Amino acid sequence: MNEPNKNIKPFAMQPDKPEPEGSVEWRSPSNIALIKYWGKQGNQIPMNPSLSMTLKYAFTQTEVKWHPNDGTTQGEFDFFLSGQKVGPKFEKRVGNLINEMAKAYPVLNDLYFTITSLNTFPHSTGIASSASGLSALALSLLSAAQRATGKADEYPRFLQKASHYARLGSGSACRSIYGPYAIWGGGVNTESSDEYAIPYKPHQDFETIYDSILIFSEKPKKVGSSAGHKLMDEHFYRQGRINQVRENSFRLLKALETGDFDVWQEVVEQEALSLHGLMFASHEPVLLLEPDTIRFIHDLNAFRAGKGLKVAFTIDAGPNIHLLYADEHREIIRNFISEWIMDHHLQIQVLDDETGKGAKQLFE
Ligand code: PMV
Repeated sequence: MNEPNKNIKPFAMQPDKPEPEGSVEWRSPSNIALIKYWGKQGNQIPMNPSLSMTLKYAFTQTEVKWHPNDGTTQGEFDFFLSGQKVGPKFEKRVGNLINEMAKAYPVLNDLYFTITSLNTFPHSTGIASSASGLSALALSLLSAAQRATGKADEYPRFLQKASHYARLGSGSACRSIYGPYAIWGGGVNTESSDEYAIPYKPHQDFETIYDSILIFSEKPKKVGSSAGHKLMDEHFYRQGRINQVRENSFRLLKALETGDFDVWQEVVEQEALSLHGLMFASHEPVLLLEPDTIRFIHDLNAFRAGKGLKVAFTIDAGPNIHLLYADEHREIIRNFISEWIMDHHLQIQVLDDETGKGAKQLFE
């Protein structure tokens, strides 16, 4: 397993000194999958392994304050997202996560939490807010649990547990803990696991990759990811997909290790199109791409033909494009995006991000 990022501050706490009340704050980024997680079983166990690039600027910052409750309730909380109390659906998700964590940390049942959370990016922009949100929450609650009991794990073990709990909150969230890349799912290498993600450090040419996110639609997803994963249960292409991921993981890891941008482009784009191909071919077909998504891909293909640009597109479960590119082609790609938007008279938002280092705790 790679060393966790050195420049994340060490986990600050005083072991063996239980803190019945206190507060803790974590910042956790979103991530974009290059090998896609699609399909799951049991308690958030992925059908296949996935590999993601951690983002830098799209993150959630979550503060958890805790104090003893009055003994009549268990693990109750108030949750404010951008100053607004969250709705019942999200509340249920948070409650479920606290219950899961309370199995290992019963102290959580005796506490009351006030949770405040902020995202750096607008809601429903195709950036996975559940990845950053649930990972920031898992990190903060785990810190609270360990500080309330006065029993701290070593930092690498702490992060691994946080990744495990983040996974229970939202599968892809387990990868957000680490940067610059993360692998989730057993069988990729000797360290990888279905239970939590592990950090992955590529060849230096892949350490900083830019990501311009073209927001073709801000509408909430037509199909939530839980319903989407379910479509893989009985999918005709299920075994084919599992085989494809095995080969793509192997090829992408080799490309990331050797600095091979051609194979990187081929695999990353095939993964994005495969994800949507699986959706099209589901028992209940799902069509999330917009005409502009397709138009952009055609125009990108025409523009880059023969130029040898280090650029690849990827798409999550929505219509928005993440255009990934190396520093040396930053200007040409950004100009292409601006001109493309102008040529088509579109009014769309583009969010610029890049490879990030993973989650970090914030100190006063
Ligand atoms: O973490 P979930 O359950 O929201 O699923 C995420 C699925 C994809 O974003 C489509 C792919 C991935 O690996 O992130």
